[in-house]
Amino acid sequence: MEATSLLKEDHQKVRALFRKFEAAGERAYQTKKGLYEDIKSELDIHAQIEEQIFYPAVRDMRSKEGGDLVAEAVEEHTIVKRLLSELEDVTPQDEEFDAKMKVLMENVEHHADEEEKEMFPEAKRVLGADRLEELGLELEEMKESLKSQLVART
Ligand SMILES: [Fe+2]
Ligand SMILES: [Fe+2]
Repeated sequence: MEATSLLKEDHQKVRALFRKFEAAGERAYQTKKGLYEDIKSELDIHAQIEEQIFYPAVRDMRSKEGGDLVAEAVEEHTIVKRLLSELEDVTPQDEEFDAKMKVLMENVEHHADEEEKEMFPEAKRVLGADRLEELGLELEEMKESLKSQLVART
């Protein structure tokens, strides 16, 4: 699968978790906690495979546009990671929890939209289908190994 398609599938999965979170009742604390944990592990893995494999490949294209888009994306990841780490310190019973989740979801949606509308088309244009297939395999492999590490820890 092309790297951009794999990353888009991840985005869709996270968006679906966001919709479930939004649909959960105000007091559905257990459900919200479970969804938060799923969202966190999806985002952790997704950010790592992008930062270690996809973004460097886009940066190496040496297109001004690609470089700028990666720089912006890395800053957005930093914000998302900060929100995730703040969420570690609150529980769904705390009043800040929903507010922090809302800001997290808004940031991630904005970031994923930008990748899909700007970075991925630029990568497709410059890298081409074969290179994207290769990168897709690398992403897949790293994703699998991160997932098994996660399972081993729990
Ligand atoms: Fe990203
Ligand atoms: Fe992404």
